[in-house]
Amino acid sequence: MKTEVFSPQYQQISADAIVIGLFEQRFLSADTISFLPRLAVHQIKKLIESGEITGGSGEFTIVHRFNDVGVKRIVVLGLGSQDTFTLELLRGYIHQLVRHLIKINCREICFFTGGYTGYHEEGALAAAISEGFIHGLHVFKKYKSSPSNQADVQVTLNLVAPCDEASEEIHRGARKGKILGQSVCRTREMAEEPGNVMTPAYLAHSAQLLAKKGQVEVTILDEHDMEREGMNLVLAVSRGSAEPAYLIIIQYVGNPSIQDNVTLLGKGITFDSGGISLKRGGHMYEMKRDMTGGAIVFATMEALLELQPKINVTGVIVASENMPGRRAYKPGDIITSMSGKTIEIFSTDAEGRLLLADTLTYIQQYLSPSIIIDIATLTSATMPSLGPRIVPFFSNRSWLTSMVHHAAQKSGENFWELPVFEEYHERVASHFADCKNNSSKSPHTIGAALFLKEFINDELPWIHIDVAAVDTNDKPYSYIPAGATGIGTKTVIELIGEMESSVFADLHAAYSPLQQKIPTQI
Ligand code: BES
Ligand code: ZN
Ligand code: ZN
Repeated sequence: MKTEVFSPQYQQISADAIVIGLFEQRFLSADTISFLPRLAVHQIKKLIESGEITGGSGEFTIVHRFNDVGVKRIVVLGLGSQDTFTLELLRGYIHQLVRHLIKINCREICFFTGGYTGYHEEGALAAAISEGFIHGLHVFKKYKSSPSNQADVQVTLNLVAPCDEASEEIHRGARKGKILGQSVCRTREMAEEPGNVMTPAYLAHSAQLLAKKGQVEVTILDEHDMEREGMNLVLAVSRGSAEPAYLIIIQYVGNPSIQDNVTLLGKGITFDSGGISLKRGGHMYEMKRDMTGGAIVFATMEALLELQPKINVTGVIVASENMPGRRAYKPGDIITSMSGKTIEIFSTDAEGRLLLADTLTYIQQYLSPSIIIDIATLTSATMPSLGPRIVPFFSNRSWLTSMVHHAAQKSGENFWELPVFEEYHERVASHFADCKNNSSKSPHTIGAALFLKEFINDELPWIHIDVAAVDTNDKPYSYIPAGATGIGTKTVIELIGEMESSVFADLHAAYSPLQQKIPTQI
């Protein structure tokens, strides 16, 4: 997709379609009126009067007969009520509209960004338009022998600024929106890869290819390396599979003058059969997406190469299969983790936390993290508690919680903090070992967070994000298709942006100076 930004001179624009927004309140804004040719304004007003154009949410009306001025059609996009309009809704409307315009062979599509002003600043608006556009174009067609018409169309998005002063902001926003949109699609594509292709080795190889783009350094640990480090939990999970496990480390140095770094950790189970505690039911095929956390980390690292933030970020993906092969670990096994803590296995299906536990130890021992953010498809119990569109997260610092909320506000994703109370400590306590990997008692999402907490130094700011319930859509929702959703990617990227804009030394102060003294819950 090519993107260009124009100043508001209609006469200079040639496009297959120009899109203007209209709220349900149904008045054309002053800048829209001065942008469009008089004849077009007249025609649109008549259609509004006749009730054909209502401005209802996502409605689009195509007005033809403007060949004389170089633009083939004007599309009036309904934005719904001004009071309830959000950029997240706009992404969905644009996704639908773009799909339709492509179907009718529009290849150069122009959005007028006036008419929204006063509700959202231009950069964020341009980002949302650009993002919706990317989602409208995206199809996962790789395994179709006859790809749909939509595949590989070359489309140009032109954004028209309401005034010259806004051009720069719109340009920046459009670029960011494109990167965010592409990153979400990247996560989705990776998560959608079938398990026979997306193996731990495939993930490791993808990271090596990323390193070829430069600016990131990639280190891969194989099972021998992990054996040397005593990462027995990772090795135990991997033992039932014919595919070897890998630990993938991708380092982006955006600010060489400081030591601090944010470390992202993603669960990369490329297929989770449950192991000896075999999963039942017809949805086991969805467990090819159990590496979504890893995909989010990967897509984020790729996005950083484009966004070039002045911050150091280390992306770690711990990749393995969880299979019931003849050497598989078993319920009742007791395994010594890299940290030295012994773990009794209650369920081989609670494998994600085991991979994360050893990797958290490795990260703290070797990568000097200033903040750790882990992202994992950890517990299906997130579904009954928050459902498929709200992402639960845990944090051991209130200022980090505020950062997540800021980031999610920008991304349009819904994040909700869950508490980790010590009252549930018995969920991880074992009779025979230092910990057990799961309990038959709920709440499982909090139980998993409590388990991870056992492997985190209390001094270290930490966020745990459980994307298990949001990683798959059973049917399309807004701009997100059925299948892998990529939810979480944008918030993680925005979070890095939040962290970049606050200097590490002042991180506390930048967010909540008073809360520094409040003891943390986790
Ligand atoms: N990968 C699953 C979690 C999952 C389930 C992700 C459904 C996406 C959709 C994880 O490894 C798992 O099996 N968790 C168990 C934990 C239980 C044994 C405490 C679960 O959620 O049932
Ligand atoms: Zn599992
Ligand atoms: Zn799993």
